[in-house]
Amino acid sequence: MPRPPATFATARLVARQPGADDAAAVLAAYAGDPAVTRYLSWRTYDRVEPLAVFLRECVAHWEKGDGHLAWLLCLKGTATPIGSIGITLEGGGRAMFGYVLAKKFWGRGMTAEALTFLTDWALAQPTIHRAWAYCDAEHLASVRVMEKAGMVREGVLRRWQICPTLGPEPRDCIVCAKVK
Ligand SMILES: CC(C)(COP(=O)(O)OP(=O)(O)OC[C@H]1O[C@@H](n2cnc3c(N)ncnc32)[C@H](O)[C@@H]1OP(=O)(O)O)[C@@H](O)C(=O)NCCC(=O)NCCS
Repeated sequence: MPRPPATFATARLVARQPGADDAAAVLAAYAGDPAVTRYLSWRTYDRVEPLAVFLRECVAHWEKGDGHLAWLLCLKGTATPIGSIGITLEGGGRAMFGYVLAKKFWGRGMTAEALTFLTDWALAQPTIHRAWAYCDAEHLASVRVMEKAGMVREGVLRRWQICPTLGPEPRDCIVCAKVK
C-alpha cells in the first residue's frame, strides 16, 4: 500500500496529523455542531474526552499505516483545526475519502481544495485506480465538492448509511468517483 503524506498544503490550507490534545479545539470548531453532523454517520460530541479517545485511535491508525488515515485541516499559518479530511486505502486499488469542515468556513471552496489534492495524490500512485466517496442523497453541497475534485456521479447506494442526527433508518447515498 502506498503511504499518504504525513502533511500536505494547498493554496489556503495545511493538513497535519491529529493528536489527542486537539480534542477541545475540534469540539469547538466543528464536532459539537449539529449542523455539521447532520449528514454524518457520527453523532455530535458534547464532551472533550470521547473525542480525545477518537483522536487517539486516529493516531494509532497513522502509526500502523492502515485504516482511515485522517488529517486535521488548518488555515495556513495557524495550527488550529477548522476541519478534517481522511483517506481509507482499500484493497483492489481503491481510495475512499471523507471530509468535514467547520460551518464558519463553508462555501469558500476549501473542502474541494483539500479533496482535489488527495484525489490527485491517490491517482498518481501506480497501484490506485479509483478515488471515491459517498454522501447522503440529499447532501448536494457534498456531491458538488466531489464533482469539483474531478469525481463523477456513478449512482445511488440504497439504504447505505444511518445519519443518527436525522434518525435511525439507513438512508440512500450518492456515490462519486474518479478513475484511471
Ligand atoms: C459538505 C461540506 C464538506 C462542503 O464544504 P465546503 O468547503 O463548503 O464546500 P465547497 O465550498 O468546496 O463547495 C461547496 C459547493 O456546493 C455548492 N452547494 C452548497 N449548497 C448546495 C446545495 N444545497 N445544493 C447544491 N449545491 C450546493 C456550493 O455552491 C459549492 O459549489 P460551487 O463552488 O460550484 O458554487 C461542508 O458543508 C461540511 O463540512 N458539512 C458538514 C460535514 C459533511 O456533511 N461532510 C460531508 C459528508 S459526505
